[in-house]
Amino acid sequence: MSARLDWRSRPAGPLRGSLRVPGDKSVSHRALMLGALADGRSHIRGFLEGEDTRATAAVLARLGVRIETPAEGERLVHGVGLHGLRGSAQTLDCGNAGTGMRLLAGLLAGQAFDSTLVGDESLSKRPMRRVTEPLALMGARIDTPDGLPPLQVRGGQPLHGIRYTLPVASAQVKSALLLAGLYAQGETEVIEPHPTRDYTERMLAAFGWPIVFSPGHAKLSGGHALRATDVEVPADFSSAAFFLVAASIVPGSELRLPAVGLNPRRTGLLQALRLMGADIRVEHERESGGEPVGDLLVRHAELRGIELPEALVPDMIDEFPALFIAAAVAKGRTVVRGAAELRVKESDRIASMANGLKALGARIEETPDGAIIDGGALSGGAIDSHGDHRIAMSFAVAGLVAGGEVAIADCANVATSFPGFTELANGCGFDLGEAA
Ligand code: S3P
Repeated sequence: MSARLDWRSRPAGPLRGSLRVPGDKSVSHRALMLGALADGRSHIRGFLEGEDTRATAAVLARLGVRIETPAEGERLVHGVGLHGLRGSAQTLDCGNAGTGMRLLAGLLAGQAFDSTLVGDESLSKRPMRRVTEPLALMGARIDTPDGLPPLQVRGGQPLHGIRYTLPVASAQVKSALLLAGLYAQGETEVIEPHPTRDYTERMLAAFGWPIVFSPGHAKLSGGHALRATDVEVPADFSSAAFFLVAASIVPGSELRLPAVGLNPRRTGLLQALRLMGADIRVEHERESGGEPVGDLLVRHAELRGIELPEALVPDMIDEFPALFIAAAVAKGRTVVRGAAELRVKESDRIASMANGLKALGARIEETPDGAIIDGGALSGGAIDSHGDHRIAMSFAVAGLVAGGEVAIADCANVATSFPGFTELANGCGFDLGEAA
C-alpha cells in the first residue's frame, strides 16, 4: 500500500493548455487479460501506468505470463494460450481494483488450479456475490466469506454456459461471465438492464473470438482460441472528466484534451454537462484501435442545475464525484436519482461527496440512490477522500473555486487511476500541493 498523502488545493485559474490524460483503465485491464490468454505476443500502447492495472499485470505474471515493459505506457504480453496459465500457491493481490478482481474471478473460474484473490482495505469491503452467484450457476466454485474478498476460486470445475439477466447494470459482472464463458461448454449469454461499457466484447472480437453483441446483450460460446493482437489504449474519459468540470467552472479557462476515448457507454458526463450549459466541443473524431476517440475542447461557461436523466447514469457511473462539484457551483438545483451503485464503489460516493461538500458549506441532501444539490458558493475547508481516488481529484477541482484552501485527506490512491495528476493539474493552472 502507498504511503499516506494529503493534499491542499487553493483557489486558482484560469486553466489553460493542452493536456494528455493517461490511458483508459478499463481497456488496459482487459488488454492484459486477453493478451495473456492469447496465442502469441500482444503489444499494448497507451497502457495506464496506474496501481490498479499494474496489480493485474503482477497477478498475470504470478500465473506464468511474461509481460515486458519496453517503455512507459507500453506492455508486451507473451500470451500463454487459453490453457497455459500456471497456478500460484501465493495469494493474488488485486490492490484497490474492483475491475481486476471481478474479471479475474471469471477468468480463473475455468482454470484447472485453485487461486485466492485478495485486495486492499477498500476492495475488501466491496460486494462480490454479484459475480460469484452467476459464476456458480455456470458450475464455478468460489468461496467468499460474507460475499466479500478474499475469493477462493476452486479449479478443475467443468463450466457450462448460461443465459443470465444482470440484476444491476455492471460491465464488470458481464465481463466476468464472458471470460468464464471462454472455458464453458455451450453458449454464455448476458442480458443487461441498461447497456454498459462493451470493451470486453469489442476486444474479444478483435482477438478473433466469435462473439455476437449489441447494446445490452452479448453471447459467445466456449472452445475457440484468442489470437494475439496489438491494442491502442485511448486516453481515459474518466480522467478527462475532472478537467472538463474544472475548466467549465473556472472563469477564463480553455483546455484541450487530445485523443480521449469516446465510447458512448462512457460519455454520459459530456451530455450531462452540456445539459447544464457547458461549452465542450469534440474535434477530430476518429477511430483508434476500434474505439471512437476525439479531442475535447472545453471553455468556461455558466452552469445551471438539472434533473439528471436516469438513462445517463450507467454511462457516467464513475463521473458522479466530478458532476457533484459542477452541481454544487451551478445556478439552481441538480437532482440525481437511480445511482445507488455509487454506494458500493471505492467508497460510498454519495456519502463521501455529500459529507465533503457540506464541509465546504454546500447545500446537499443525500437520498438512498442519489442527491439533491442546491448550487452556490463553496468555502474552504477540510474533507476526507476516504482513500477514494475520484473523491480526492474532485475536491482538488473544488479547491479552484472555493473561498479558501481545501485540505483533502488520504489522496495516495489517486495513483490507482491517474498517476501524475498533480503535475498535469498544476501545469494547466491548478494550485495543488501536498499538505504541510
Ligand atoms: C468498470 C465497470 C464499472 C466502473 C469501473 C470499471 C469496468 O463498474 O465503475 O470503474 O472496467 O468494467 P461496475 O461494473 O461495477 O459498474
